[in-house]
Amino acid sequence: MQTQKIIISEDLGYNLPRAIEQCPHDRLFVLTDRTTHDKCWPVIADIPGIQHAEHIIIEATDEHKNIEALTHVWSALGQRGGTRHSLLINLGGGMVTDLGGFAAATFKRGITYINIPTTLLAMVDAAVGGKTGINFNGLKNEVGAFCPSACVLIDTEFLKTLDYHNLCSGYAEMLKHGLISNNANWAELLTFELDNVNYRRLLSMVAQSVAIKEQIVKEDPYEQGIRKALNLGHTAGHAFESLALAEGRTVLHGYAVAWGLVCELYLSSILTGFPKDKLRQTLQFIKTYYGTFAFDCKSYEQLYQLMTHDKKNTSGIINFTLLADVGEVRINQTADKETIFDMLDFYREAMGC
Ligand code: GLY
Repeated sequence: MQTQKIIISEDLGYNLPRAIEQCPHDRLFVLTDRTTHDKCWPVIADIPGIQHAEHIIIEATDEHKNIEALTHVWSALGQRGGTRHSLLINLGGGMVTDLGGFAAATFKRGITYINIPTTLLAMVDAAVGGKTGINFNGLKNEVGAFCPSACVLIDTEFLKTLDYHNLCSGYAEMLKHGLISNNANWAELLTFELDNVNYRRLLSMVAQSVAIKEQIVKEDPYEQGIRKALNLGHTAGHAFESLALAEGRTVLHGYAVAWGLVCELYLSSILTGFPKDKLRQTLQFIKTYYGTFAFDCKSYEQLYQLMTHDKKNTSGIINFTLLADVGEVRINQTADKETIFDMLDFYREAMGC
C-alpha cells in the first residue's frame, strides 16, 4: 500500500498549500458535510491554493454514509470537470473521510486525496490507515476499499472546537492505542482530565496516538495479522452500538468502544492473563468519563447474536483481540457463550447498571 504522510500542523496556512503542491492536479475539489462546511471550511477558506476549489457538500452524520451520498459525490466530480488527475480534499469527521476516501478510490479508477480530519476520532483513527467505505444494506462499512490518502493534515484549531462528548469519543480510540502499545502511554492517558483539557498536552498525545496506529498499519496494511490489534474493544463495542441503534438510543462510536474495552479487558483477564489491577484502573477511568451503557440480562442473547454477526468473524466464531498485558496483544481469540454472558455480568456489576 502506498504510504500516507501524516502532518501534525499548528498552521494550516503553511502546511495546506505545501500539501496541495505535492499533489499535482488539474482540478481541486473540497468535500464537506453541512456541519463542516459551516464550521470548518471558514477556517481554511482564505488559505492560498484552496479558494478556487469546487465544493461538494453532503448531509452530516453516519446515516448519510450511504450509496446515495456517494453517488452525489461521483456525479459532482464528473459534472464539474473532474478527471483522473483531480485532487479531492476531505474536510470532516470519519463519515466524510471514509466516504470521500471511497469516492476518491473509485472515481475514474482512483484519484489522489488529502484528509483534513476535524474530529478527534477521525484524527486518531478514521482518517489514518487507508480504510475507506460506506454503510450498505444496514451494515456498517459493508462496501469499501483500502486506499490511503496522500496526506493527513491534523490541525490543533479543530481540536479546540470539539464538544465534550466528541472529545471523549475520540479519546476512547487513543486509550485503545495506549493499551496496545506500552505502559508509559497507557498510564499517561489515564492521568488526562477530559473535563479540563490541556490542549498542548492533548496535541502531543494525539501525535503519539497517530504514530502507534501508523506503525501498525505500516506492518500490516490489509489487516491480515497485527492490524487486528486495532480491533480491541470493538467486538463488544459494535454489539453495544448495534443494540443502541435497534432500541433508538444514540451512542457515539467511541463511547461504545470504551464500554467494549471494559468487557474485553475483563475477557483478557480471564483468558489471556491481563493484570486485574490494570483492568480496575482502566475501568475506573472509563466509568468516570463515559458513564455506562445500561442493559439487563434480557439483552444478553441479542448482544451475543450481534457479536456472532460481526464482520471480523470467520465461520460464525466470535473473534476477539485480547491482551496478555498492556502492549502484549493476542489476536484471533475466541470465547464461548457462557464466557461471553459472564463478561456481560461483569460489565453490569462493575459499571453499576
Ligand atoms: N479502525 C481500525 C483500523 O483502521 O484498522
